Formats: sequence, C-alpha cells, structure tokens
Amino acid sequence: MPKKALNPEITRRTIETIAEKVAKIVSPTPREAGEEKEFASKLSSLIAKELKNEAEIRFVGSAARDTGLADDMDIDLFVTFPSSFSRENIIRRTLAATKKVIKAKWLMKYAEHPYLQTKIGKFQVEVIPCFRIAPHEPIKSAVDRSPLHMDYLQKKLSEKQKRDVRVLKKLLKNAGLYGAEVEVQGFSGLVCEQLVLNYRSLAGLVENAKDWRAPVVVDIEAAYPNKKDAIEKFPESAIVLIDAIDRNRNAAAAISATNASKFVCLCRAFWQTPSNPNFFFRKLASPNWTKLGAAIGKRSHSILGLELNKPDEVEDILVPQLRKTTQSIARHLQLLDFRVLDSTSFSSAEKSYMVFELESDSIPEIKKIQGPPVSDAVACERFLSVHSPSDWLRGPYVEGERILVEKQRKTTDANEALKQVLGNPVKAGAAPHLVATIKKAKILDGQQLIASKSLDSPALQALEYFINRKDWWLAK
Ligand code: CTP
Ligand code: MG
Repeated sequence: MPKKALNPEITRRTIETIAEKVAKIVSPTPREAGEEKEFASKLSSLIAKELKNEAEIRFVGSAARDTGLADDMDIDLFVTFPSSFSRENIIRRTLAATKKVIKAKWLMKYAEHPYLQTKIGKFQVEVIPCFRIAPHEPIKSAVDRSPLHMDYLQKKLSEKQKRDVRVLKKLLKNAGLYGAEVEVQGFSGLVCEQLVLNYRSLAGLVENAKDWRAPVVVDIEAAYPNKKDAIEKFPESAIVLIDAIDRNRNAAAAISATNASKFVCLCRAFWQTPSNPNFFFRKLASPNWTKLGAAIGKRSHSILGLELNKPDEVEDILVPQLRKTTQSIARHLQLLDFRVLDSTSFSSAEKSYMVFELESDSIPEIKKIQGPPVSDAVACERFLSVHSPSDWLRGPYVEGERILVEKQRKTTDANEALKQVLGNPVKAGAAPHLVATIKKAKILDGQQLIASKSLDSPALQALEYFINRKDWWLAK
C-alpha cells in the first residue's frame, strides 16, 4: 500500500517540538556556558596584556557562539596579528606569551603551523596564532578564517537557529557523521551552522536535504550567481558549501560522497518519523569480541587482515596514507583476479590494520581469456601476438564467434596473492610513510585478527562496523 502523504506543515511542527526537547538535553546549562565564557575571557586578557595589545585575542568556535554540545568544553583562543607580521614572528610571540602567563602543561601541536593545547580543569584550551584578514581576502594561514566565521555567525544566527545547530550536531553525531576529521569525513560544526542558516531551521534543512541530488550547491551569500560555476570550481565534492566569508573555499570539502548520501537517507528517515528517539539517543552496544568472532566465522573464507607497526605520524597524515595504501593493495589483488568486495583501515594505539573482504580465499587455476571475434582479423592478430604461447595451457581455439586461450594462474590462494603484492610495497602503491612498516607486516586471517592482543577498543569498533555494517536508519 502506498504510504500516506505526510502533511509537511505538521512534520515541520513536530520537528520543532522535538528540537526543543533535544536541545534541553544536549545544551550546556546556562551556568556551565557562563563559566566557560568567563574563563575564556580571563585567559584572553592575560595573553593580550602580555602581548601589549599588539595582537587581539578572539574567543571563537562553538562554545563562544553557543552552538556547542554539553560534553564538549573546548575553548579556542585565536591570537590575531596584523597580516604584515611574519609567520615565524606570530608563532614565537604567541607561544612565549601564553606559556609565560598561563601556567599549565602545554602541548605543542602541529597543523599548518604550531599552536598550543592544554587541559585546565574541565576545559580543553587551544591557543592558535593567526593573521587578521578581511572577508574573501586571500588567507595567509589556514586558520585565519575562524575569527571571520565568528563575526559572521554571531551576527547572523538567531537563538532558535543556535538551538537547531546543537540538535543537528547531535543528530549527526549519533549517526557517525559529525566531524570533518579524516577518520570521519563528515560534517564540521561550521557546516552545521551554515546549513541551518541557509535553510533557516533544522526542519527547513531536513525537508530540503531529503531530496538532495549530488552535487549539491549551498551558496548562502550568493557568491556564484551561476550554480554551474560553483560545481566547476569544486568538481570533486558531493556537497559544495560556499563558505560565507570566503567564496574560494568549499566548507564542506571534507564530506565524502558516501557520507553525503548517508545524510540524505538520514534526513528522509527523520522526516518520516521524527519522533523516533533513536535519531538522537541510540544506544550503541559496546564492542563485543564473542559476537564479532561469530560474525567473522561466517565469513571466515573471505577476510584477510594486515597488521603493521603504526608509523609515528599525526592522524592527518597517517589516516589518508593508510586509506590510500589499502585501496591500492585492493586494486592489486583485483589485478590478480581476486574480487575484493570491500576494504578498510584503522589503527589501535600501537598497530595499524588493513582489512580486505574477498569474494573467496581461492580462485580457479584455469583462466579462460576471451579474445576478439574472428571477424576482426586485425584484432585477432594482435591478441595472439600479445598473449605468448609459453603461458598457454590450452588453445588458441575458436568458440562461438571468438578466439580464446586458456592460461594457468600462478597464484590461486589469496594469502599468497597478498604476500606477492606486499613483496614490493612501492609497486603496490604504499604511501611514503608506510613503505618500511609494510615490509614487516603480518598477514592474519579473520580469527587471528580478532585474537590480536593489539586490537584495542576503538580498533575493535572500526572492525565491527566493517563486518556488521548497518546504517540502521535505512531499515524499516
Ligand atoms: N573550522 C573550519 N573548518 C573546519 C574545522 C574548523 O573552518 N573543518 C574553524 C571554524 O571557524 C570553527 C573553528 O575552526 O568555528 C573551531 O573549530 P572546531 O572546534 O573544530 O569546531 P566548532 O565549530 O567549535 O564545533 P564543535 O562544537 O565541534 O567544537
Ligand atoms: Mg570547538
């Protein structure tokens, strides 16, 4: 029976009521928010005083504009210098001033340039040097946009929209789609803010996004009158969100095509049954070795794992290199005629893993190679000269309209095939930081993989998702 058409006005109102309820649960209390702002302002004035007002200190990010979730107490302080200063200079001054006036265990972190991080009580504090620029002006460093985001969003977001941003973040977090980090490839806080702003509300966003077709262009400030130009400028992206303060940046560039599609399905499901609490508070079962062992047992002939010593690199480098290498190894297995259904990679504290799911752990010895139709004399000639008689097991012969040869495969066992591919990591497409460690990688079957002592809880969770994959909101 066809589904009864929903009255969109009722759905919008339902989402509004739900957003109000969810926001009460996920927002920091006014007291917590007040404490955080007060603390941020105290830290800011200490640093500003030490820098003799040469730099302006800006408290930015979700905590500063009341769009953060309760469990996330980060204070991002941007130390903004005139753009005439050198990078080296602003880094040196920021580090020295901060360490001098705020006594804490500061960690040096490295993104495009170094910044400081520490935990003081319940607050995660970051102090980041940057240059002061005007909107749409070329940036001097990757972090220069954040103070501009702050100015823009602070001015534009209404109280209700801020509430909706929090609810949207919770919806995405619960579905594993929140965060622009390389491990997630999902929606950043900034993207959430600009989406709610563009579609006026959470309900407006969901109503639109359920019908999105990639590539989607969201251009809040109408920087590209012609949508085609925006797509051409960012051709690789499933969602093109022109950053409101920088028309040359796609703020949604981190979102993978799969995650953009997941979001569409999620919105469609949420629009149909918004009152299902699973959308916000689905309880995740903790990783379970026994159940996972049983699930792997069912596919024991198709799982191949690689365990390698984790290279000492930051996540931003390690994760994409691991991903790229895994895909390349999978391609090489395919070239040896092993069908790879899927592959994944993840790391524990000490080890990195690549896991391949093959259609089968062995393939037939005989490979029948179909040549061109006999009617094409030139192609037949070429086919026979490319395939040399020394590796023919049988043939050449005619079957139906075509000529064929049969060859004997040298490698029919998946384990052997993987060993062969790993024998030459550079040829296998290993990324630079992985070449050395891949040479010493251990090949594990499914059971050995979960028996590994180095598989900690986050790694187990990643493996569990790979094996028991299910985007629950698709199921009826
Ligand atoms: N930022 C950005 N693009 C990203 C990540 C961050 O432009 N992919 C900028 C934004 O200006 C953002 C600021 O850096 O406001 C702080 O980043 P972060 O703390 O990661 O995000 P929040 O917006 O504070 O969101 P959350 O609630 O997750 O902390
Ligand atoms: Mg933040």
